[in-house]
Amino acid sequence: MKDKKIEKLIKLEQKRQRETLTLIPSENLVSGDVLEALGSELTNKYAEGYPRARYYGGNQYIDEIEEEARARALKLFKLQPKKWSVNVQPYSGSPANLAVLLALVPLGEKIMGMRLDMGGHLTHGHKVSLTGKAWTSVQYDIDRKTEVLDYSQILELAKKEMPKLIIAGFTAYPRTIDFKKFREIADAVGVYLMVDISHIAGLVAGGAHPSPFPWADVVTTTTHKTLRGPRSAMIFANRESKIAAANNVDIAKAIDKAVFPGLQGGPHMNQVAAIAVAMKEADSPKFKKYALQVVKNSKALAAELIGSGWRLVSGGSDNHLILIDVAEKGIGGKEASERLEKSGIIANKNTIPYDPRTPVDPSGIRLGTPTLTTRGMKEKEMKIVAKLITDVLLKNKNVSREVLKLCKKFPIKI
Ligand SMILES: Cc1ncc(COP(=O)(O)O)c(C=O)c1O
Repeated sequence: MKDKKIEKLIKLEQKRQRETLTLIPSENLVSGDVLEALGSELTNKYAEGYPRARYYGGNQYIDEIEEEARARALKLFKLQPKKWSVNVQPYSGSPANLAVLLALVPLGEKIMGMRLDMGGHLTHGHKVSLTGKAWTSVQYDIDRKTEVLDYSQILELAKKEMPKLIIAGFTAYPRTIDFKKFREIADAVGVYLMVDISHIAGLVAGGAHPSPFPWADVVTTTTHKTLRGPRSAMIFANRESKIAAANNVDIAKAIDKAVFPGLQGGPHMNQVAAIAVAMKEADSPKFKKYALQVVKNSKALAAELIGSGWRLVSGGSDNHLILIDVAEKGIGGKEASERLEKSGIIANKNTIPYDPRTPVDPSGIRLGTPTLTTRGMKEKEMKIVAKLITDVLLKNKNVSREVLKLCKKFPIKI
């Protein structure tokens, strides 16, 4: 690289990633092929529109790439093109969610999603997000005692508030989601069910979490978390949605129009090509094994942490993610994540349900196993990681040396 300053910073970041343990559940490591597609000349090209209907010339190869990305995405989730459409152009998860709302819910009307501090996402109707400003938002929470979803409470709220669209799928929820129950709730009030599987898409693809596709009208997902692709997103639309038919809406067309020209301009074709690469990588027995191992590792990490005396939100993990209530041991979430980082363990502070503290310094830290699993770690290493976390937080030790040893044993391969 001629730009020495940026080259140096990239190299330092590469070294940081290699020599630390990433436990951020929304992060992962992409393959060399995904990186190559992202760094390709495709970034030079404008391609506003959709395959075979572009506003610019020179798109013959671009069209093939987008068509391939769509076909591979549908195949990965075992969807028939007759029944489902997919849009691979959203720049990331937040614009994907915004595009669905723009397509299906008139501005100002009501949407319903989970509260951010309970584990929902900003774009599910939080008041600081456009989704909570341009639409009227009602938010459900989780059960105070069990710290899991209470579907009967969500049904009651839906009946009382009569939203036009219900959002399921979360950012910090460690348990399995029952999508059939969400369908029943949406049907009870006759509205759209949108499922945001950004966090668990890789688990769904690999058969390690139930699929929302039999139940949802729309499914959104980022491609860069458990799915192990580029930073980007996709929107799947159910062409046989009864709610869309009742509202006289061509759901696939409405979503395509909302993405472009409703919200975005030219698609980032380097990202689209990288999605295509990632979809093929995920459509393999090796990836299925990976997804199952992510969950096994999360359960092993959770069990070991509980054994060391930690209180976990909801008492454990069914997926890739764990929430530790560190405040219960007298440590703030901010302090906990800072102390872990000094030893090379990268986690993020997070609210826990009904958190008495503030989001700036909440009661919890959020951990996830996707990245360590990509590095090849298994249950045995999760026990070591749990011990290192406990040593740092409860015994005030610096475990940098042990962290580096583990990183060297499980190098990042691209
Ligand atoms: C459930 C969920 N949806 C959407 C997003 C937004 O994705 P992005 O950060 O790519 O905008 C996230 C990101 O963390 C998420 O967890």
